Amino acid sequence: MNLIEITEGKAKLLVPDPKAYEKDGKFDPAWLPVFYNPKMVFNRDVSVIITSLLKVKECAEPLAASGVRGIRYQLEAGVESLFLNDINPLAVSLMNQNSRKNHINAVITNGDASSVLYSITAQLVDLDPFGSPVPFLIPSLNAIRNNGYLAVTATDLSPLMGSAPNACKRKYIGENQKLSFNKEAGVRILIYKIIQEAASLDLAARPIFAFFRDHYFRVILNIKRGAKLADSLLDNVGFYIECSVCGFAVVEKNRIGSCPRCNGKTIIAGPLWLGSLWENSIIEQFYANLGSFQYLYTFNRVKKFMQMILQEMPYQTTHYWNLTSLASKRKVNLPKMEKFIECLGKASRTHFDELGFKTSKSFDEILECIKTS
Ligand SMILES: C[S@@+](CC[C@H](N)C(=O)[O-])C[C@H]1O[C@@H](n2cnc3c(N)ncnc32)[C@H](O)[C@@H]1O
Ligand SMILES: [Zn+2]
Repeated sequence: MNLIEITEGKAKLLVPDPKAYEKDGKFDPAWLPVFYNPKMVFNRDVSVIITSLLKVKECAEPLAASGVRGIRYQLEAGVESLFLNDINPLAVSLMNQNSRKNHINAVITNGDASSVLYSITAQLVDLDPFGSPVPFLIPSLNAIRNNGYLAVTATDLSPLMGSAPNACKRKYIGENQKLSFNKEAGVRILIYKIIQEAASLDLAARPIFAFFRDHYFRVILNIKRGAKLADSLLDNVGFYIECSVCGFAVVEKNRIGSCPRCNGKTIIAGPLWLGSLWENSIIEQFYANLGSFQYLYTFNRVKKFMQMILQEMPYQTTHYWNLTSLASKRKVNLPKMEKFIECLGKASRTHFDELGFKTSKSFDEILECIKTS
């Protein structure tokens, strides 16, 4: 393997040299003999901060590739006991080298994630697969200690964002057509799937931090034992319904085939999670403790991102709206976002979409501001 040394966070790591594995001047991390994606640094930086805030001492990373994530959790987030695994023997040899290089104390295995997860327990299981995390959910949930955490990255955007409705039905149970606010629908379909898989084991999986960025969703959930707790989460489920004609959108417990305002055809996503995406105290602590993470390469991006999440937090159980889609359906020029939000008053931008906004105002009030801004 052609290796180079890189620094990420406080770790010094050997990873495959991207230049040696380019094809026709192009690069895809999946072509490397051991996966390493420099574009995921933001995801790992945010995860390091949260793992440290949650005071996680014991972490399992069953799909660890170069080991970068788990190694950083031990170096930067206070994780003491670390379990790393990968099915690829080259990855295992590289994570062994990287662990030694960073004086990491870890148990490292070379096996199938699902089977190794049945032989361990951990406070946090961090799942970072190629594509969908669904095949690994049950074994991961099974390995998590009571009141522990599951962290999940999902890069299978086509089923989750409505471009592959059949794949969504197969993997996530849901019906998923492409809503104008499909990024939020996607993360909520993913969360509902995790809640349901957890409920089948009498576990309650409550999201405490969820976001969309670049080409992935990331969700962290608190996992507690208890059938009743699991039942109460399953009550908070429904459908996003959007009119393809007038742009009206509504959240319902059941599917509605035509728009209550104009009788136009509706497009539907769900069943999906309708509850909170963030635990307020964690977001506040995250922001308050950012000062200790100024060394991070993505520090300014993380800070900007958290400022955005803080703004949208008061509206976290209402879905965002897509300003471009509404303006085009109402056949008006696209208003300037700042002016439009000022007009609405109780509203904010959203991290989900540059052209999205969240508000507690009614659809009629939104339309009025679109006309006048
Ligand atoms: C997206 S990469 C993980 C990246 C890593 N967590 C990081 O932050 O750089 C997914 C890894 O899962 C491994 N993998 C795929 N299927 C697996 C399985 N069934 N059991 C264990 N590892 C598997 C692949 O070899 C690959 O290294
Ligand atoms: Zn309508």
